[in-house]
Amino acid sequence: MTDTLEKLVETADGAAASAAPKRLFIKTYGCQMNVYDSERMADVLRPLGYATTDAPEGADFVILNTCHIRERAAEKVYSELGKLKQMRERKVARGDGGMTIAVAGCVAQAEGEEIMKRQPAVDLVVGPQAYHQLPELLTRTARARGERIGADFAPHEKFDALPAARGGDGPTAFLTVQEGCDKFCTFCVVPYTRGAEWSRPVAAVLAEARALADRGVREVTLLGQNVNAYDGEGPDGKPYTLARLAYALAEIPGLDRIRYTTSHANDMSDDLIAAHADLDALMPYLHLPVQAGSDRVLRLMNRKHGRQKYIDLIARIRAARPDMAIAGDFIVGFPGETDRDFEDTLDLVRQVTYAGAFSFVYSPRPGTPAATMAGQVEEAVALERLHRLQALLFEQQTVFNAAQAGKTLKVLFEKKGRYDGQAIGRSPYLQAVHVDSADHLLGQIVPVEIVSGAQNSLNGRLVDQGTI
Ligand code: SAH
Ligand code: SF4
Ligand code: F3S
Repeated sequence: MTDTLEKLVETADGAAASAAPKRLFIKTYGCQMNVYDSERMADVLRPLGYATTDAPEGADFVILNTCHIRERAAEKVYSELGKLKQMRERKVARGDGGMTIAVAGCVAQAEGEEIMKRQPAVDLVVGPQAYHQLPELLTRTARARGERIGADFAPHEKFDALPAARGGDGPTAFLTVQEGCDKFCTFCVVPYTRGAEWSRPVAAVLAEARALADRGVREVTLLGQNVNAYDGEGPDGKPYTLARLAYALAEIPGLDRIRYTTSHANDMSDDLIAAHADLDALMPYLHLPVQAGSDRVLRLMNRKHGRQKYIDLIARIRAARPDMAIAGDFIVGFPGETDRDFEDTLDLVRQVTYAGAFSFVYSPRPGTPAATMAGQVEEAVALERLHRLQALLFEQQTVFNAAQAGKTLKVLFEKKGRYDGQAIGRSPYLQAVHVDSADHLLGQIVPVEIVSGAQNSLNGRLVDQGTI
């Protein structure tokens, strides 16, 4: 590591000059796709001598990879930018050089020009389809100022231009296979910030997965805003479904676990359901948001399916894979949502039973149809609904976790725990599992006897290999 950090570079005239590493700090907000994008931005900048640091203080280049999904997520960016501006002033004052400040991600895409106006300290605004252009943009930041870089959606250009090598360590990795959304739910900004649905070709996905497996990755999570709508071009020129892609990935030596997120109920095809019954590598955990349990609200949201279709779909999935853990997303206080509609959401949750969930108060987003719909719900009412919904969801999650006690689950150990010797891994159902005296097993998939389960994690002990 130190040899790259302290490396000597040959200058154009042949003289050796010392090149201190340039420090890169990337702060990631929002979904897993932003986490993936941040890793790829670091990959693109590494050949330019940038090494990532885990704090902004002293960094030469700071990127905020932003999220626009709810108002609070977008507003965080501006308070962070104010702090960065001061940090840069202190850095310059102590003679430690400057700090380039960039805003990337979905806020950059949605309100690039406004960012430049509201916070002139920003040097660069880069949309989610343009981060492969970062090296070029960095060399011309002065000219790039005020431009909205990457406002056009051209995901194929981005993925083609990314370096094959991926940095990072650890036995799990994200892998974007699909980007964008054509569904236009009336509350959601994603179709505007990520563009139309587009799938990466199968060969590109397999090549990236092989490179990850060579690096010791045992589990990939395939990412897409509508990942189960995946239809990337196969080697024969015909599209692959997500199920077919999963079978191809499962052939890669070393890659033992495959997950995918986020799925839409309407794209949950029969072959994908069948793959869950058939393919050991496909983990029994499915994130399948429904948002609401009332047909009226689902229609207003333009979710394109009703409550019964979702409930029936879950039944079909569980018929194929009885132990499937289901996770959901919910929005409460959508415009026009009545107490009766909300009761329908609680009822759906009781029928489905979730292993985990994300739930939010509806946040009106500029430019989306729901923002100007009649019947906006008072915040106090929405909050009260959120608390009731979360109480039910947390109870279900706790029951699900506690029910693992006494079972033996295969755990992929990912990192060290807080206590000496402790390791933390994931069960097939994505539960965090804490095990003592297991830190020598990082990166391995090992049977663990579950001792207890609480709301957020499980405790287990290593099974004596001789007893299996
Ligand atoms: N593609 C996924 C969701 C992506 S956005 C799907 O179709 O389900 C992640 C989650 O953010 C959504 O599932 C939704 O629950 C929430 N969300 C999106 N827009 C929102 C808004 N305007 N207000 C509150 N929550 C929102
Ligand atoms: Fe947003 Fe709906 Fe697309 Fe999900 S399916 S990303 S909620 S528009
Ligand atoms: Fe946020 Fe963009 Fe993801 S709006 S949730 S970072 S796709």
